[in-house]
Amino acid sequence: MSQLLISFICLFFSTLVQAQTIQDQSLLSDSFSNVMITLNPSVRPIIQQIGQQEFESNQAKRFALVENMRAWTQAVQGPLLFLLQDLKVANMTIKSFWITNGIIVRNLPLPLLELVLLLSVPFNIASIERVQEFPVLPTFDSGPVLTAAPQVAPAMPWGIKDVNAPQVWDQGIRGQGCTVGIIDTGVRETHEAIAGRVLLDQCLDPMTGLSSVPDLNGHGTHVTGTICGGMGIGVAPEAEVVMCKGCGTSFCTQDSLLTCGEHMICPTSDCEDGPDIVSNSWGGGSNSDSYDDMLFSWEIVGMLPVFAIGNSGPACSTANTPGDRPIAFGVGAVMINKNLTSFSSKGPTNAGNIKPEISAPGANVLSADFKTNDGYQSLSGTSMACPHVAGVAALLISAFPGITTDNLRNVLVQSTNKSVVTSGFGCGGKVNSNFPNNYYGHGFVDALKALNLASQLLTK
Ligand SMILES: *[C@@H]1O[C@H](CO)[C@@H](O)[C@H](O)[C@H]1NC(C)=O
Ligand SMILES: *[C@@H]1O[C@H](CO)[C@@H](O)[C@H](O)[C@H]1NC(C)=O
Ligand SMILES: *[C@@H]1O[C@H](CO)[C@@H](O)[C@H](O)[C@H]1NC(C)=O
Repeated sequence: MSQLLISFICLFFSTLVQAQTIQDQSLLSDSFSNVMITLNPSVRPIIQQIGQQEFESNQAKRFALVENMRAWTQAVQGPLLFLLQDLKVANMTIKSFWITNGIIVRNLPLPLLELVLLLSVPFNIASIERVQEFPVLPTFDSGPVLTAAPQVAPAMPWGIKDVNAPQVWDQGIRGQGCTVGIIDTGVRETHEAIAGRVLLDQCLDPMTGLSSVPDLNGHGTHVTGTICGGMGIGVAPEAEVVMCKGCGTSFCTQDSLLTCGEHMICPTSDCEDGPDIVSNSWGGGSNSDSYDDMLFSWEIVGMLPVFAIGNSGPACSTANTPGDRPIAFGVGAVMINKNLTSFSSKGPTNAGNIKPEISAPGANVLSADFKTNDGYQSLSGTSMACPHVAGVAALLISAFPGITTDNLRNVLVQSTNKSVVTSGFGCGGKVNSNFPNNYYGHGFVDALKALNLASQLLTK
């Protein structure tokens, strides 16, 4: 009688644990699965602790962050990693992360998934989810590939002119001294407009573990050109970039994206010369906190997480994750007539937050083509808008090295041009003629006004 009761209670609790740990019950009908196992406790207290400490340099802070997050996650993950590795299951791969307390297991056989689930309490398992995979964000309206470099006005791309980048260059500020991290499909680093800008030995392809990051899609080369390209195509033509291939030719996998997130904190053995900002033209879905730990760790070492808001418009509440997270700096896409593109994703988020934060040129953006060293192509997408804002931020970092992420955010949003096309409609009860709103955020990014505002606020 009492034994029956005990087994009943056990069954009841294991079902309860299972329902909490696995939201996606379909995992339990696949004979093999690719899963992200998230463990408790989260790394957030470590990030906060490092954020409150004083360090002699940014490099020392990055180093301490990596050491502490690694020690913390290894201690928690140890027993589960030991079990998984000890079983030596054919074709199963195990990748442990420190930027979030998680382990990605690919080709996990169902019986082993069930075992892990059963042991979820002693192994501190918070959740088991399918590994995320985002298609590379689409681009639209691709124009013909041109081979004459748009060296001088009026051939200079409209977006470079309209964010007022040339007026900032005239003051001698061209992005020098700033390193921009880019997570994308790779880069054609031999392109004439990009050659010399990519820190080749600091790049990473998580799939190969090598620093060679060839671009077989074109997306990453185009984005890189908009940030740091010469010949008139880049916002910050003297910035340097570190490319991490979070995306392959068609997909960006969670394993690669998180590995890139770790790489951005510490791209060298001693974390020297880490990027000053990260440009992210990737994402998908909505309301997922899967990348929050990564974004918080970037923020704590001074890297603003700039994100394309997504191409899921024109409906309201279509912002993509991670751009839709409160900590992300989301960017919407505007046309040359300053009307929002129809594809640009809009806020508000589930939690009622306004998105995007800002908007930028994202239609018919001319930048480097990936097929030849002297080709140029026009593309549209929020992927093209994001690097304009990363480029403007690079100019600000160049003028004010060590500017905090809070100051960067404030300066960027307070200096926007609000002369955009408004209709009086809106999303989330906010008409698009009042700012901030869920179409344009605070308005259209303006490098010159941002620089002037930063000078007022930061030089006293
Ligand atoms: C492992 O992969 C190989 C090659 O893809 C395949 O032939 C083999 O059947 C797989 N083994 C298991 C246990 O899935
Ligand atoms: C702006 O775009 C919206 C939707 O994409 C369209 O309905 C509207 O006519 C456009 N306005 C102008 C002035 O181009
Ligand atoms: C703001 O945008 C409008 C519309 O594109 C433009 O005419 C104006 O020159 C811009 N203002 C500045 C200061 O660049």
